[in-house]
Amino acid sequence: MPAVPGASARPAIPVPNDYDSFAEAYSAENEASLLNAYYERPAMLALAGDVAGRRILDAGCGSGPLFAALRDRGAIVTGFDKSAAMVELARRRLGDGADLQVADVGSPLPFPDGEFDDVIASLVLHYLEDWGPALAELRRVLKPGGRLLVSVEHPFAITLMHVQAGREADYFATSNRTEEYNFSGQTALLSLWDRPLHAMTGAFAAAGFQMTAITEPAPAPGARDLFPDQPPRFLGFLFFVLQAG
Ligand SMILES: C[S@@+](CC[C@H](N)C(=O)[O-])C[C@H]1O[C@@H](n2cnc3c(N)ncnc32)[C@H](O)[C@@H]1O
Repeated sequence: MPAVPGASARPAIPVPNDYDSFAEAYSAENEASLLNAYYERPAMLALAGDVAGRRILDAGCGSGPLFAALRDRGAIVTGFDKSAAMVELARRRLGDGADLQVADVGSPLPFPDGEFDDVIASLVLHYLEDWGPALAELRRVLKPGGRLLVSVEHPFAITLMHVQAGREADYFATSNRTEEYNFSGQTALLSLWDRPLHAMTGAFAAAGFQMTAITEPAPAPGARDLFPDQPPRFLGFLFFVLQAG
């Protein structure tokens, strides 16, 4: 067979944030990792509190572990994610009746105004350079007085990471960081937007949210036994509870 012009044995250049291409690997990692299963998810569920009967939007729901936990606690949950493969995994986990959509948090969302009591955006906003359009949409779909719960990479942790690696770090800049990650043995490229704390709180205020809590939680009980090499407290993610004005 003749060679296809240009189709040499060049390795494919991975596309950043292509969750479709590493959905299974990321989902498996998220299921049992210290950062997700024993730190981010329990902390977010604790912040959400008693959710029985509440209409909750899980923005950037991934393969649906938080959706499942909220539903188990009696919430009426809707989820969306930009990655069709992640939504497919969520559907497998949650069943055909689950209210799931493919949508981009940075674009107009397919939900009416004032639909939800709570919106939860776990580890998704840091993919966006500009939080303005996303926060405006999340506020639009919240009932007046509704809550937005957010977790993002802790900006102090990012600066510390750069300093410890001997790299220059400008804490005050909103800047892109594209890095390789290993999810369950598969390499993935993630492109994240780091920003200082005041840029985050400023974006929330500009979108009409009032901050009711900012937390730096400890990992869940049990993490110490499963991950004995990890410190009992660390700077990983930063959590916000906000109220739509
Ligand atoms: C780090 S994972 C977190 C998944 C889930 N929220 C959790 O905490 O288990 C990030 C998720 O955000 C999704 N995502 C990234 N950018 C997005 C966007 N612009 N709109 C919606 N989802 C997005 C990815 O597809 C991925 O499923």
